[in-house]
Amino acid sequence: MNSEAPAETRRDTLTVIDNRNGKQYEIAVKDDTIRPLDLRKIKIHDSDFGMMSYDPAFSNTASCSSKITFIEGDKGILRYRGYSIEELAEKSTYLETAYLILHGELPTASQLTDWSYHITHHTFIHESIKKFLDGFHYDAHPMGMLISTVAALSTFYPDAKDIFDPESRRKQTYRLIGKMPTLAAFAYRHSLGMPFVYPDNELSYCGNFLNMLFRTTELKYRPNPTLERALDILFTLHADHEQNCSSTAMRVVGSSHVDPYSATAAATAALYGPLHGGANEQVLRMLLEIGSVNNVPAYVKRVKAGEKLLMGFGHRVYKNYDPRAKIVKHIAYEVFDIMGRNPLIDIALECERIALEDDYFVTRKLYPNVDFYTGLIYQSMGFPVTMFPVLFAIPRTSGWIAQWQEMLLDAEQKISRPRQLYTGFDLRSYVPLDRRS
Ligand code: CMC
Repeated sequence: MNSEAPAETRRDTLTVIDNRNGKQYEIAVKDDTIRPLDLRKIKIHDSDFGMMSYDPAFSNTASCSSKITFIEGDKGILRYRGYSIEELAEKSTYLETAYLILHGELPTASQLTDWSYHITHHTFIHESIKKFLDGFHYDAHPMGMLISTVAALSTFYPDAKDIFDPESRRKQTYRLIGKMPTLAAFAYRHSLGMPFVYPDNELSYCGNFLNMLFRTTELKYRPNPTLERALDILFTLHADHEQNCSSTAMRVVGSSHVDPYSATAAATAALYGPLHGGANEQVLRMLLEIGSVNNVPAYVKRVKAGEKLLMGFGHRVYKNYDPRAKIVKHIAYEVFDIMGRNPLIDIALECERIALEDDYFVTRKLYPNVDFYTGLIYQSMGFPVTMFPVLFAIPRTSGWIAQWQEMLLDAEQKISRPRQLYTGFDLRSYVPLDRRS
């Protein structure tokens, strides 16, 4: 049965009847959405403010229109600019994908050379940044160091305030994508008490990152090509994910027209949380806490009792297997072939097996997300757990900048400023201190 109205009677509107007073309103529908401002005309009295929509956590509110990333959560589909994540992971590189995300099209050969050249030649950081990295305690979390140092970059590049100058935006884009790995690697080296390793322009984006992290006495660091490629694919998978918590932070903070370094620091802070990019770190801590395959059922029981979350499971948008998690699981075995099997994989597989059969997880459509297996790979590659969210932040920078730029150039956008439902006291008189109980 066709549920659409015949063409002659069809109107792209919604008829709303206010049962409080019987009044009827017609509200425009476009792209299956309504504009909440149109609800404002719904009032009981002329002096009323008018109706608002209430949507804590934006569960059903589109805050922007975007051409960057498409997700169809029920089917487990993820595409950047129309290209499937599976195809990009197989055939593209992180830097090429970052170009695609930012520019909307895949680069030509000369555009890619030019792009890679500029990113590579913006990897050095001002020597003063090393000084305040030195000020951090030896066990400072690298995400805290990254948030602070990326914010500090704004003080070195005051031209970044020219956010409506395309040339300035281009330059800050090179700098941000180029310098994030350097800041991250320096934070890591600081935590080890090891000397900083300067960027090597002859290496790839990921090869150079591995060089800055792991080089010791060798004159020339040569990354293992399989590990370099594995990291590059992981970076590609993490490049963007439409309007998640950190992209929203980037857009909201950027909407005040602050410089992109400050907005990126805010986005990085949003990513740090255990419900977002910090989940990969928490997954590993959880697997260590579980300790053995035999302990999985007892742990799952605690999850079902509401005592714990099964970290790396569930997603606001995916109600099916996260397509990134499938690719990550495959990469894990390639890395294990070189670095040896991570024994925690057996605990992870058992968690997944039990969860995918258990009614609690099935009815709530909780599947492994991207963070479930990444930690195992990062641990096998030699990263400490505190670096895991940093490994999410570096590649996500391209997505954040693309979201920020799209927001700035969107005529419908202005400073973000949600409404609230005030549920506090009505006007009351100030009580002097000696009369308060
Ligand atoms: N373990 C156990 N129960 C869960 C989990 C989980 N990981 N995730 C959701 N639930 C339950 C939740 O308790 C709720 O149950 P009930 O209906 O009985 O109250 C139901 O499933 C719906 O969950 P929700 O919290 O309303 O879903 P949400 O969309 O608000 O949260 C989420 C999404 C990702 C924050 C959540 O699934 C979660 O906390 N997962 C663990 C953290 C995690 O892995 N985060 C990484 C997300 S993917 C990477 C990224 O993009 O950041």
